[in-house]
Order: sequence, then C-alpha cells, then structure tokens
Amino acid sequence: MKITVIGSGYVGTTTAAILAHTAHTAIALDINAERVKAIQAGKAPFFEAGLDNLVAAGIKAGTLTATTSYQTAIPEADIIFSCVGTPDNPDGSSNLDYIYASAQSAAPLFKKGVIFVQKSTVPPGTGEELIRFLLQHTTREFDYVSNPEFLREGTAIEDTLLFDRIVAGSHNLKAAEVILKLYEDIFKHRHTIAKISALDIDGSKLKLHQGQYLPTSLNSAELIKVTANAFLALKISFANSIAKLADQANADILEVMNGIGTDQRIGRAFLNAGRGYGGGCFPKDVSGLISSASNHGIDLSIMKAADELNSSMPGYIANKAKEILGSLEGKKCAVLGLAFKSGTSDARKSPAVKLANILAHDGAIVCAYDPRAMEEASHDLRKDIKLCKSDLEVVKNADAVFVATDWSEFKQADLERYAKNMAGKLFIDCMNMFDVKDVTNHGLRYVGVGRN
Ligand code: NAI
Repeated sequence: MKITVIGSGYVGTTTAAILAHTAHTAIALDINAERVKAIQAGKAPFFEAGLDNLVAAGIKAGTLTATTSYQTAIPEADIIFSCVGTPDNPDGSSNLDYIYASAQSAAPLFKKGVIFVQKSTVPPGTGEELIRFLLQHTTREFDYVSNPEFLREGTAIEDTLLFDRIVAGSHNLKAAEVILKLYEDIFKHRHTIAKISALDIDGSKLKLHQGQYLPTSLNSAELIKVTANAFLALKISFANSIAKLADQANADILEVMNGIGTDQRIGRAFLNAGRGYGGGCFPKDVSGLISSASNHGIDLSIMKAADELNSSMPGYIANKAKEILGSLEGKKCAVLGLAFKSGTSDARKSPAVKLANILAHDGAIVCAYDPRAMEEASHDLRKDIKLCKSDLEVVKNADAVFVATDWSEFKQADLERYAKNMAGKLFIDCMNMFDVKDVTNHGLRYVGVGRN
C-alpha cells in the first residue's frame, strides 16, 4: 500500500521510517523544509535512538521518500496518517490549528476510498468534528480512524515493535481493521526492523511479544489516549506529593514506592519522585483533558491537583538548595541535564530547564550541560545561563550540582572527579537515581527528592 504520513516529528518520522520496512511505501510530508531535507539526506530530523538507521535504509531502498508537497504526497495515498503537533493554547486547551490546516490541504487531493488516520493526540469529539470538516473539503469517499500513538521519545522504535496495545477507533469497523492489519505487518517485520535500527532489543522479548489489538469506537479511542497519559502523570504527581511528606517524616520515597509497588494492584512503574514530568505530551495532555472535561461540564479537580503539584517541583528542589546554602545569590550551580528525559534531544516544557531558570532568577550563577538537548533547551533558558561542553566543565568550581535528567552518562559519572573539581559539596539528585552511599563515599552531601 502507499502510505503518506503528514508531520515529520517524533511520531511521524518514526511511523514513516518503520512502515518503509514492511513491504509498503511511505512518504513523509511536512511543511518544515529543514525536516524534509534531513529525511531526504537519510537522517532523522532530531535525535532518536536507531531512527537514523531506519531512515537511511528506507531512503536507500526507495521505500521512504520525503516532500513538502501535498500535491506529490496525497493523491495516490491509500492511507494517510496525520501526525502533526497538537500543542496547548495559553489557556491549556488543545490547539488543533495544525490538525485542521493539514486536513484542509489534504482533503481536496484525496484518492477515493482513502483511510485518514489520526495519530495525533486530540480531545474526545475531535474526530467527529473533523469528519464533518473533511466532508466540506472533498467530494471523494473516505474513512476516518483514530489510532492514537503511545510511543515514548528515547524508546520510540522499541515501543512501536513491543507495543502493549494498538487502538483503532472508527465509525467503520472495517476501516479500523485495515489499520490494525497494517500493525500486524509491522509486527511480522519486527526482527528486520530491529536489525536495521541496530538497537540492542532483547531477541526473546521480540519473539514472545503479545501486544493487544483493540478496535473501539471513535470517541473511546481518543479518550483512551489522553486518559492513559493523564493517569501516568497522576502517578508521578502522587509519588511527588508523598515525597514531600517523606522529606518531613524522614522516610525514603524509594523504599516507600518499592514497598507499595510490589502490590500488583498498584504496580511500580511511574511512581518515581523527582523534578516532575515535562516534554511535548504530559503537560499539554493533562491541561487539554482538564479543558475538554470542563467543556462537558466536568470539573477534573484531581488532574488540576496533579498539574499544580508538578509545577511546584523545580521550585521545591531549588528551595532545598537555598535552605542548605543560605542563599543562592552568587553561588555557582551546575545543572546536569536539560532534556525532559534521557534518550532524547527534546527539551519542551522540561522541568530541568525550569529548575535552571529558577536558580538563575534567585541569583545563582548557573552553568548547564546536556549530551543532546543543548540547542533545543537554549530557546527556553535564561540568557544569563552559561552552556558548557561537558559535565566536567559544568561541575568545575560549583557550589552545588543538580542532576536534572536521568542520562546514563551522569549515572556512570566519575563522582571522585566531580568532588575534586567542585568548590562545595552539595549534590542534588533531582531524579533520585543515585545510590546515596555512592555519592556520600566521595565526601559529597547527598540530597534527593523525598530521601531525607
Ligand atoms: P512534533 O512537533 O515533533 O512534529 C509535528 C510536525 O508536524 C512538525 O514537523 C511540523 O512541521 C509538522 N506540521 C505542522 N503543520 C503541518 C502541516 N499543515 N502539514 C504538514 N506538516 C505539518 O510533534 P510530535 O512530538 O511528533 O507529536 C505529534 C502528535 O503526536 C502530537 O499530537 C503529540 O501529542 C502526539 N504524540 C507525541 C508523542 C511524543 O512522544 N512526541 C507520543 C505520543 C503521541
């Protein structure tokens, strides 16, 4: 089949690059010429482990192409995936401008019988409105399927191959089944795709994997996606609220969460306290859900509390440093990590960036380093924050070090060298990823989140 993927971001590029290795052909369509040029040159437009290899191999084989032209990409497509951004408006509601603009460009060029698949995260009810909108802009028959994406940046390819579930919601079950079948094709080719990506994916996991294929109604599919993200955000905020209590009650949040996580009804995943969640999904999906609930007359106060708690975490961590150092005025603070999480160059709404900005606002001299996200983070960082080329350069003469993103290279850092090069002793583990003794053995003072 001929498949066109609109939007060459994290979701769209991964989708197009994977589909290009399943006996179908994929066209990546984006209005951003830089992104299209990168793909044409055989590179992903951003860092995502293994993706360059899939893009390069697809371009070489001719099964993946990229264009900025709707006229080139749409008329022959049997299936169109919409993967454009859905950021938040200033009031927290979902901004669907890109969704409607791309639909408007594509609809007049539809081939008869095309399936238009919405992969972007949208509020429930969007699909039904968009179907009406598409009908105004095309005379051709088409089907509409909501197929929300669950991949995580940093493990996008692995998540696609080792999916928990594929959801396809539609008014037309047959169209949903065509899309589910496409994912069965991806699954059939999973060993080849894993090999081309050169990722170190456990072969036995690939062999034994059994994800679920879930056909649903259109509105349910849309609500499944935002609810899944909201629940994960809730778990993180819950862990952070208990971490604040643990700090006061002299308990260790890791012991507490390990203790409750063994209960199968609760589970351990996402109960990690730290500087909070960020990125291009959780913050806007939470605020979007609050907003769409409110449009339906429902007050989702539980999600408002999660959002508020999350926003408080960078300031909570900065205050810990303030209490220990007396004041941050003129203190040299080293921030290690700016990406919203490890494995990605994405620094959208990163709590690490927010923390660096708070420290600088409070008078600290802030130096920061990230292995991948310096360029992206620089747009949101205060201009008085110095960007360094290595972790050692950042920690030099620092009064306090803040490890703010869980990169493995920080976890494996030579703490002896850090201790020798720092002016002070304060080591703040904003991700709770270090063993306390490993840090204190080097003469550093360890501070975590909920680990007093
Ligand atoms: P992104 O912001 O990285 O990429 C979106 C792309 O769409 C950009 O390259 C932009 O130039 C392009 N675009 C915008 N308007 C266009 C138009 N009219 N025609 C063609 N291209 C257009 O977005 P990302 O992160 O890939 O997310 C896409 C959607 O998937 C969002 O709804 C997001 O919430 C959702 N999602 C994202 C995940 C993630 O980890 N990034 C995971 C799961 C879902």
